Amino acid sequence: MIGELHQLRQLCWVLGSIGRILAIAYTRVAVLSETKLHIDGKAIAQQIQAEIAQKIAEYRSQVNQVPGLAVIMVGDNPASSAYVRNKETACRRVGMQSFGSHLPSSTQQAELESLIDQLNHNDQVHGILVQLPLPSHLDAIPLLHRIHPDKDADGLHPNNLGKLLRGEQGLRSCTPAGVMKLLEHTNIDLAGKHAVVVGRSILVGKPLALMLLAANATVTIAHSRTPDLASITRQADILIAAVGKPEMIKAEMVKFGAVVIDVGINRITDYEGNSRLVGDVDFEQVAPVASHITPVPGGVGPMTVTMLLHNTLWSFCQKYGLT
Ligand code: GUN
Repeated sequence: MIGELHQLRQLCWVLGSIGRILAIAYTRVAVLSETKLHIDGKAIAQQIQAEIAQKIAEYRSQVNQVPGLAVIMVGDNPASSAYVRNKETACRRVGMQSFGSHLPSSTQQAELESLIDQLNHNDQVHGILVQLPLPSHLDAIPLLHRIHPDKDADGLHPNNLGKLLRGEQGLRSCTPAGVMKLLEHTNIDLAGKHAVVVGRSILVGKPLALMLLAANATVTIAHSRTPDLASITRQADILIAAVGKPEMIKAEMVKFGAVVIDVGINRITDYEGNSRLVGDVDFEQVAPVASHITPVPGGVGPMTVTMLLHNTLWSFCQKYGLT
């Protein structure tokens, strides 16, 4: 009798365990099949650029002017050259004027200062950008401060960063603004969500944390000195990687169903000697765990250029009182 009771109890335990496993598997499959989404930054960028092109065409007929963007590049860093080419092609595509200043590595600080002064006074230029990084003999900070805040297409002038901090309207840094647009276009509600930003750069991590806060997320900024990083990233409903370390975010660092945004663009050479771009997130590993994820390339990258166009158009509209 006792033996039979014991067997019955064992059977119940086995059936219960099977039930629990099936329930967990069902929930996970349901999440994967219903909401899994690779966020297509290229398509969203194309849609926004088409809207920008349409507005430029309308404004051209109203004020007989088009927005103009000046891109200053010093030296021949291959990655920077590719980014600058992209920016100038995008300008032409939407009907914006592009003023490229591609200068030799030997260019001196004073020459750049006087170029920025000229562009500040040029009525056809509504946005100015100094492509970073600069060669090591040049100091980027005084140059970024010298750009007129109303023409600061990169949103890196202290006035514009201050406006972001205060929650006032102003020019916003392009990559973080692009991340926010991706989340908005994907209908991800940020209010009350825990957003973890890995990275604290002035170009991405810090401004992005402020933008997420303004959208009512609860924000944590983690960085290279954060101990036990995985214990923080696993708490994230929205996980944003902006550290510049190839594929450092692994599956075990991500909560099941999290939204994962990969800001990293890293060129690596694999063991066969082939070079390719990867993000800060190990896409293959993390995609099955995430509910939404951005690929690299084709995620955040196209949005940065788009927000640069958006900022230049915004400055133009401010100047001419267009809405
Ligand atoms: N280099 C890499 N990304 C950027 C950017 O967003 N702005 C500038 N100015 N330089 C960069």
